[in-house]
Amino acid sequence: MPAKNHGATADYTEKIPNNVNLHEDRRLQRALESWQPNFLNWWQTMGPTLPTQDVYLRTAVNVGRDGWAQFGHVAMPEYRWGIFLAERDPGRKIGFGEHKGEPVWDKVPGEYRAELQRLIVIQGDTEPASVEQQRNLGATAPSLYDLRNLFQVNVEEGRHLWAMVYLLHAYFGREGREEAEELLHRNSGSLDSPRILGAFNEETPDWLSFFMFTYFTDRDGKYQLGTLKESAFDPLSRTCEFMLKEEAHHMMVGTTGVDRVVQRTVEVMREHDTDEVAGLGAIPLPVIQKYLNFHYSVSLDLFGGDTSTNVANYYTAGLKGRWLEDRRKDDHKLTSDSIMVDALTEDAGGEPAIGQTEVLALTGLNTDLRREYISDCQGGVKRWNRILEEGGVRQRLKLPHVAFNRKVGAFAAIEASPDGEQLPAWEWQRRQGEWLPTEVDKTYVRSLMQPVHQRGKIAAWIAPPRNGINGQPFDYDYVHLA
Ligand SMILES: [Fe+2]
Ligand SMILES: [Fe+2]
Repeated sequence: MPAKNHGATADYTEKIPNNVNLHEDRRLQRALESWQPNFLNWWQTMGPTLPTQDVYLRTAVNVGRDGWAQFGHVAMPEYRWGIFLAERDPGRKIGFGEHKGEPVWDKVPGEYRAELQRLIVIQGDTEPASVEQQRNLGATAPSLYDLRNLFQVNVEEGRHLWAMVYLLHAYFGREGREEAEELLHRNSGSLDSPRILGAFNEETPDWLSFFMFTYFTDRDGKYQLGTLKESAFDPLSRTCEFMLKEEAHHMMVGTTGVDRVVQRTVEVMREHDTDEVAGLGAIPLPVIQKYLNFHYSVSLDLFGGDTSTNVANYYTAGLKGRWLEDRRKDDHKLTSDSIMVDALTEDAGGEPAIGQTEVLALTGLNTDLRREYISDCQGGVKRWNRILEEGGVRQRLKLPHVAFNRKVGAFAAIEASPDGEQLPAWEWQRRQGEWLPTEVDKTYVRSLMQPVHQRGKIAAWIAPPRNGINGQPFDYDYVHLA
């Protein structure tokens, strides 16, 4: 086993904390230092709107095994976004594609420059987008614990933007610097220059949406980062490996957030012996299901078309691998393999029907990744259903059919119910309110979003967490408001 270098602890007196020896490259350092004020300006204008004195935050300070983060109360203007890459494995070899077995690349090969830049820009665009989508949530936080988690997710998405901007500045020259500027100019929901991917232009208007977003949409991010972590371009791989570490917390916020909403709903249902909890300050299970349906289906779209020759080329070139590539039991080249992917087929009457078709494994890689994601999402549903079962409630939550509410891929052309029953357009129009949040549902959920900013207190629509952050109790002073 090759020895690994231990990343040096970042020097927090530096303008830009990093473990990439930034001080050795004056040009790069200056480029990043000139981008930094633009980033801070973006954070000021597009970041969290709730004024605070300080927040109990985790800050990345290292990447080594003996702890990589420190916790403490930080005044937001003093938060330090750093650049951290996971430790280098000097013996690392390319794990898939036509370059399999060759040493990984420390520089960008000329022939893959445009593709790598594109992959980094698309990933980079999602990071600040989610901060923009969530910027008003602080005003309605159900507890100081939740408020702190929101800030934590936000600062880390900001750091993920830094991570991508570092790669653009360090490896892609003038074009990379221009793309780094564009990442601050595009904004979520903007009519003139929206974010690149659809789900990142949807607002996150309430905390149920936030928990669903961090469960389903951040989880898409986890899978995208997982494929980039396999990349032959080693700096990208190491960057994504470290981002995945932070991402785990975002998943936890989503998973336990929905846990706690379901838990509270069960308690109110039992207390009042009724399913109709809307007037009782809890969120009815059918509304939770509708939010789940929405966030899951828009997140499925983020994986792109069911087949893609671009992605096949990325794989063959070694730019982007599969989820847990090294655990796959095949030749890691896939030149002669095939896969069944979702497709519209024809029914007996020649009408389009929900079905599958066989394609080359390489062109079906989006489907492969989407399926990994779907089975991961089942885990959440299972756990939420366990809460329902233990609470003695007979209803269950479920993931809707893959054809439901899709705007990307084969099923974008048709309408389907959550059970996968194909529907004519008029019936979809008439019935979609049964399956997706209506204005009435959203208004009700928003009406519950009254801030609870007192220490140790929590809103009535959600249960308190089982554990606090970093061993602190729930009633810890996680945030001091301004
Ligand atoms: Fe992120
Ligand atoms: Fe995230």
